[in-house]
Amino acid sequence: MSLLSFRACAAAAGVAAITASGIVLAARQAPAVSVFTAEQATAGRAEYAKHCASCHMPDLTGDTEVPPLAGTAFLDTWGTRSTKQLFDYTSEAMPYGAPSLSVESYAAIIAYVLQANGGVAGASALRTSTVARIASVTTITKSPSQ
Ligand code: HEC
Repeated sequence: MSLLSFRACAAAAGVAAITASGIVLAARQAPAVSVFTAEQATAGRAEYAKHCASCHMPDLTGDTEVPPLAGTAFLDTWGTRSTKQLFDYTSEAMPYGAPSLSVESYAAIIAYVLQANGGVAGASALRTSTVARIASVTTITKSPSQ
């Protein structure tokens, strides 16, 4: 492809910016949809530390027995699923063997997990009824450990 058409494509995709001198600047594409508030993500961080971090690790990377909740491995499993599926699974199964938190706590934790995967907070709060494809509200392109 010619340089000109490459520029046009890159600009249309919104993934790279080319300066006048021809240097390509990588830019993270902002997620199209925002499904949680900053307040939820902040509260979720504390709830996660209390109820989830002991197994899924403080940085959400999991370990040999426990799946990660951030990065490509997480998005391989959950990217095509909805936020509602993640909410439902988590509130029915986590903390492992003892799902016991309030709806607000689960919503906050899901918000925090989405944020940890590059999701951006906005005006609308995440609710049990929120349905959004997880890949469309996150921007992670590689694992945190990479
Ligand atoms: C006692 C350890 C433990 C705690 C605490 C715990 N988890 Fe888990 N979690 C696990 C294990 C083990 C699995 C794998 C379960 C399976 O495969 O059936 C898992 C799986 C998951 C999954 C599915 C991941 C995937 O890719 O399949 C999610 C989402 C999740 N946990 C979220 C949470 C959240 C949110 C919390 C806090 C509210 C939490 N977990 C607390 C041990 C734990």
